[in-house]
Amino acid sequence: MKKELSISAIKDGTVVDHIPNNAALKLVDILDLKGVRGMISIATNLTSKTMGKKGIIKISGKDLTKEEVDKIALIAPHATVNIIKNYDVKQKIKVTIPQVINKIIKCSNPNCITNNEKNVITKFYVLNKDPLKVRCHYCERNMEKEDISLL
Ligand code: CTP
Ligand code: ZN
Repeated sequence: MKKELSISAIKDGTVVDHIPNNAALKLVDILDLKGVRGMISIATNLTSKTMGKKGIIKISGKDLTKEEVDKIALIAPHATVNIIKNYDVKQKIKVTIPQVINKIIKCSNPNCITNNEKNVITKFYVLNKDPLKVRCHYCERNMEKEDISLL
């Protein structure tokens, strides 16, 4: 069965495909889609040949920026971002973990200013992408994959 049957094609916008099945709803959270006026479709538990089950997000009328796309990599490292123009896939972008991560993740140091001051937004430098290792800009704590949690 073709996957297109479960969720219709879009004319213009962005399709985020190959999302791990349990990550689609989390992705919606971090993508900040509140201002989008076009239709947004979110599907999970889709059958995928390569992934077993997967999620997909289709956003009509919005081309995600490189910065927005790269945030996706933290929870969906194998996601594909398709930019659609007039029903055609114009661009297929593989997500990559950015060099600097703003917001999204939380510092594991309870004394870090980001955990104590409401207005200080987290910022991390990526030391290594795979496995993920980051350093907090504020308290300089290094965190590895198992210490990293999303805000
Ligand atoms: N898509 C869409 N609307 C369009 C064109 C494509 O929603 N007008 C979606 C497709 O359903 C698919 C994704 O965008 O989920 C990528 O499309 P395409 O490259 O044609 O599909 P595949 O070849 O299966 O992609 P991949 O090689 O990345 O698996
Ligand atoms: Zn910190």
